[in-house]
Amino acid sequence: MDHAQGPVKGKNMNQLNVIEKGALGIHEGKIAYIGTEEEALQLEQEGKLLISERLDCQNKLVTPGLVDPHTHLVFGGSREHEMALKQQGVPYLEILARGGGIHSTVNMTREASTEELMTKALFHLDRMLSYGSTTIEAKSGYGLDRETERKQLHVLQQVQAKHSVDIVSTFLGAHAIPPAYKENPDAFLDEMMDLLKEVKEQNLATFVDIFCEEGVFSVEQSRNYLLQAKEMGFQLKIHADEIHSLGGAELAAEIGCISADHLVGASDQGIEDLAKQGVIAVLLPGTSFYLSKGVHARAQLMLEKGVAIALSTDFNPGSSPTENLQFIMNLAALNLKLSPEAIWNAVTINAAHAIGKGEEAGQLKVGRGADIVIWDAPNYHYIPYHYGVNHVHTVIKAGKIAYTGRNGYVS
Ligand code: NIG
Ligand code: FE
Repeated sequence: MDHAQGPVKGKNMNQLNVIEKGALGIHEGKIAYIGTEEEALQLEQEGKLLISERLDCQNKLVTPGLVDPHTHLVFGGSREHEMALKQQGVPYLEILARGGGIHSTVNMTREASTEELMTKALFHLDRMLSYGSTTIEAKSGYGLDRETERKQLHVLQQVQAKHSVDIVSTFLGAHAIPPAYKENPDAFLDEMMDLLKEVKEQNLATFVDIFCEEGVFSVEQSRNYLLQAKEMGFQLKIHADEIHSLGGAELAAEIGCISADHLVGASDQGIEDLAKQGVIAVLLPGTSFYLSKGVHARAQLMLEKGVAIALSTDFNPGSSPTENLQFIMNLAALNLKLSPEAIWNAVTINAAHAIGKGEEAGQLKVGRGADIVIWDAPNYHYIPYHYGVNHVHTVIKAGKIAYTGRNGYVS
């Protein structure tokens, strides 16, 4: 397949470009050569290729750096105290309605200093990198007030300045209704919209997102809010049909979101609309796994209808506390029944397109930044199959070794 243009859609996701016994050259941080080893050695002999340093990748898989297109990287504290409630079967939205869930993380995030949030975000980002992610999207949304939403976005900016992983920022001020606005959620949305002007002026986010869900924001509120954001020049994302089938997918298509995320309850019509409008479906099987509801996004139907699927961790302290995109690949195989080829397309090229990075990340191409993962795996089928461990041998970000899986061994 030539994946030159745009995301890979529908059944085309079941095809992958693979080079057996390949060779890849890096020069000044960029990919300078891709081909077979035989050809590379031939060119070297002819003096047409100068190789100064070699990394032996025999019996290893080499892929683009993974792209994680939906994370809630910056937050205070953690929510392990909710495990007992989960075990008792208290539903996610019920925990939220009782003032726990997102609200509990909001309290901890408000209390945390910028420094604390930064140290913690860097820790989680390091771990994402160690599992192979070299580009991610990250959202605000645990402030629900001006000061803390601002603080989260500033933390993202500062984290980016310190870390090699590329971060695309999303404003998710509309993540829950703070208790003080329970009777008047529209006033809260107005306040977040007002803050958005400042976010735009200071260039603190590329995307605007909203949690469209029963008991949170309705389809109508989401439409109104996102259309205002669009007018201000933001690109749109939406937490859509995660738990209830509200018509979030239809809305995403109607207003031109770059991606619709979750989609476990997306309707037939919604799926058709996504395909028609070219909205990328960002599926989060780790969240379905962790919410333990036994229902999954209808990935096969999406492929049949021609939707481009991306996969993500949804890393967050409540519904998906994991930085490990490899585990999400396992879940996508088991629960979404995606083929290994579709899974790789979903965590590379399509994930990059889902965050507007399609021209920079997600593919190994001459001239692009050398974001590469070398895996302790004999082939690409192996990663979605052998679960629960980290298969990374080496992560290269912009041509530099950023992580090696061997660091911790004493001998
Ligand atoms: O994508 N569903 C809304 N937001 C997050 C969860 C946030 C949380 O529980 O802290 C999600 O699943
Ligand atoms: Fe999310």
